[in-house]
Amino acid sequence: MIPSEIIEEIKFRCDIVDVISGYVTLKRSGSGMVGLCPFHSEKTPSFHVTPERGFFYCFGCGVGGDVITFIRKIENLDYVGAVELLAKRAGIAIPEQARPDQAPSGVKKTRIVEINREAARFFHAQLLNSPEAKDYLAQRGLTMPIIKHFGLGYAPDSFNAMQLHLTGLGYTVEELTAAFLCGISAKTGRPYDYFRGRIIFPIIDVSGDVVAFGGRALGDGMPKYLNSSDTPAFKKSRTLFALNFARHSCAERLILCEGYMDVIALHAAGFTNAVATLGTALTEEQARIMKRYTKQVVITYDSDRAGQNAADKAIRLLEATGLDTKVLTVTGAKDPDEYIKKYGAAAFGRLLEGSRSRFEFKLDTITEKYKIGPGGEADDESKIKAIGEVVDLLAELSSKTECEICTRRAAERLDVSAENLARDVEVKRRKLYSAAKRAQRRQSLRLAEGYGDRVNPDRRLFMQEAAAEEAILGILLLYPELIPQALEIIGPDEFRTALNRKIYEAIAGASDGFSLSTLGQILSEEEMGRAVSYMAERERLTKNDLEVIEDCAKTLRNSPALPTAAAHDSDVPDPDDIAALIAKRRAGEQS
Ligand code: CTP
Ligand code: MN
Repeated sequence: MIPSEIIEEIKFRCDIVDVISGYVTLKRSGSGMVGLCPFHSEKTPSFHVTPERGFFYCFGCGVGGDVITFIRKIENLDYVGAVELLAKRAGIAIPEQARPDQAPSGVKKTRIVEINREAARFFHAQLLNSPEAKDYLAQRGLTMPIIKHFGLGYAPDSFNAMQLHLTGLGYTVEELTAAFLCGISAKTGRPYDYFRGRIIFPIIDVSGDVVAFGGRALGDGMPKYLNSSDTPAFKKSRTLFALNFARHSCAERLILCEGYMDVIALHAAGFTNAVATLGTALTEEQARIMKRYTKQVVITYDSDRAGQNAADKAIRLLEATGLDTKVLTVTGAKDPDEYIKKYGAAAFGRLLEGSRSRFEFKLDTITEKYKIGPGGEADDESKIKAIGEVVDLLAELSSKTECEICTRRAAERLDVSAENLARDVEVKRRKLYSAAKRAQRRQSLRLAEGYGDRVNPDRRLFMQEAAAEEAILGILLLYPELIPQALEIIGPDEFRTALNRKIYEAIAGASDGFSLSTLGQILSEEEMGRAVSYMAERERLTKNDLEVIEDCAKTLRNSPALPTAAAHDSDVPDPDDIAALIAKRRAGEQS
């Protein structure tokens, strides 16, 4: 556990509005701020931030919490990771013993980074000594300066050369396996070098640490690439190759490629703003990281079908983060590396300037698919299908002017009247809008009724009681000074639903003063969102005092007793049976 003084200090220095404004455009509204929720897509803002009390809550999707919860969710970090990120931002050091960054194997991140640095040195020295590896890279057009710049290396084709070198430096085999540099042979139980006979690409994070390696077979060996798996120092889904270099020249634009070799060829050709994912599809986390560094991303994946499909997925992810996104498809070559080699850097630069928006990219894909356009042989039926897909595409555009311009362009390409196309788009847009509204309403209804409630499953059985508990908790979270008196009125064991009891227990048990961050350490993200929703609901009401708490306490006391089997979970009965039982007792009481 991180000491609560440190957490409070971090929260004090990281103003929730400042932090959230880095991700969401907030506007003042009443005593708080509102904006478009970054956790679900919406057109009208239901995301609220209350600076005085230090929490946020989305009335649309039910996500909420304090500044730590926000960072956890948006950066996809665990609790400690989010605290660390905020601590860094605030310039606060977290004492080492409070930081549980150890792998289950017990090998620390700092140790793995150290091992990796030594391994990278070893691989690089091996490359300089290997005519075979140097020939391969030369033949692929890499010069010595670029090899040195990227710290490329060579893993000799040996069973344990690297292992011997690193154990000689004092690292243990256990540490080497934790760093994914060694594997253990299932047959003999002996450790072996993971990378053998491969060109090595060190993967360096933005703080300059070597966090992992990629290794390419020299020839047609299989598999073509091997990559380190996740370690305490490396999370593949959150890392971008060459961002350590690109970050200095990508304020306006980043180029996103598929492969290490593409990135290296681009940097060598002067496009130092190129990065790549590590052999996996782009993740949401990577998209958000890019958003931190740049305004525009140009995707330039392989020109084959797989590459173009991956590009289509990547645009969606990137646009969802608010990044301006373009697609560059190389023609006459399979990837940017090959293109530059064939046509030169200037030609690539021209392609870059002419890269297409998502709309143009999709429009091209659709017209190709249905063979529309000059020389095309589309019949009416495929033309109608094409128009349908184009209408869907246009209806999704959020800017009216963009939609208008694109509609005109599409009408020309499809050879139909722009007016008719625009009308179809408008109809589709309305449909989408009301479907979204309906979905949102359903969602809030579900939350209110506790139907299919996974966060607090008991809620369904104890609607009235849960509502009473939530009122009490909401008031206490807003006004912690009422906690001692509330505890005299009602104790945690009188709470009926498990989640609410857990929250109330945490409130009761916080010896050194209670705050939202106390909850952050024991609740999951979803549970935290729920707790904050109680606060947000009460904040809308004017009466929040002990009298309300007393009334709610009465509701809880008058609640019919539970069959013991349900109170203790030894043999959990069917919830429907309990519901029936409770309904029966209630009916009995009223008559
Ligand atoms: N990749 C991988 N495992 C494989 C093949 C590919 O992890 N078996 C990853 C690598 O990160 C690679 C990227 O996917 O860089 C793109 O694959 P590909 O286009 O085949 O590789 P290139 O970088 O273009 O390599 P080369 O030009 O040497 O073929
Ligand atoms: Mn390639």
